[in-house]
Amino acid sequence: MPNKIIKNEKKRILTGDRPTGPLHLGHYAGSLKARVGFQDEYDEYVLIADVQALTDNFEHPEKVRKNVLEVALDYLSVGIDPKKATIMLQSMIPEIAELTVYFLNLTTISRLQQNPTVKSEIKEKGFEKSVPAGFLMYPVSQAADIAAFGAHFVPVGEDQLPMIEQAREIVRKFNRLYGKTLIEPKEILSDFSRLPGIDGKAKMSKSLGNVINLSDSPEAVRKQVQKMYTDPTRIRATDPGHIEGNIVFIYHDAFNPDKDEVAEMKEKYKKGKISDVEVKEKLAEALNNFLEPIRKKRKEYEKDLSEVQNIVIKGTEKGREIAAQTLNKVRRAMKIDYF
Ligand code: TRP
Repeated sequence: MPNKIIKNEKKRILTGDRPTGPLHLGHYAGSLKARVGFQDEYDEYVLIADVQALTDNFEHPEKVRKNVLEVALDYLSVGIDPKKATIMLQSMIPEIAELTVYFLNLTTISRLQQNPTVKSEIKEKGFEKSVPAGFLMYPVSQAADIAAFGAHFVPVGEDQLPMIEQAREIVRKFNRLYGKTLIEPKEILSDFSRLPGIDGKAKMSKSLGNVINLSDSPEAVRKQVQKMYTDPTRIRATDPGHIEGNIVFIYHDAFNPDKDEVAEMKEKYKKGKISDVEVKEKLAEALNNFLEPIRKKRKEYEKDLSEVQNIVIKGTEKGREIAAQTLNKVRRAMKIDYF
């Protein structure tokens, strides 16, 4: 029954993060949660993109280095299971860099300048006057990440869509010029809405200091929740409050498993029968309950960091084999497989 064979063959997915800091609740809601779910259904690869991280941190390599194992620890603590998913380190897979060089022929500077994510990042980072070439072309290197591992799908948030589009364009051009060699990747758009920062800004971002990290202590979580924005129109606890756009309730919805409690608090809040302090206390409790098993797992792995290193080394070796096979095909297709 040929159908059965196809069914058993899992499609490959690739995701990744730049190791520039600890992962936070925004990462969890936006992608880590989905990755934990996907690892049974798909052949999952997770890339710690240290080379990409260097494109805007090349002056601070120590920062990137420090965060490689931290990010690996974050992955393992949230339940990415090294028996099911493959965790890899980008710089230890030079085939990606090689493929990047070939891919650079297949796009143009002006196409790169039009990439909306790169465009806004250039502004954010103050690169307007002079953009490092490595930064401008990082979408090409990300296309190489995706193509080197033959990923069918890339689960992403909206901001990464332009990367997948550009990767698809490059792969199509490669296949058109050199013969069908590479897999055209598709995105799986995450259906989670983006978790706002604790200050109500659209995005949790380490540089804005509005994050709650997965590795934060219970006290640190409580402190951040205390700082959280609520309803700016509400001055006293007896004033009727608003739920929509209220950060505390957005987090309750995302992380408090006790839906009845949340519904009850919302009703009371609207009637001015519960204080901000109280809904925040409940939230801190819910978040700490949610984070507790993650902290526990992290502690276990922290006791044996060489085990974490081994997981990354093994994963990288496995990933490198796949990338090396892809590059053999690529060189053959490009007629540079000389001897
Ligand atoms: N650019 C991604 C981010 O900033 C990280 C990343 C690097 C990535 N390589 C990737 C994501 C390959 C998906 C696939 O979040």
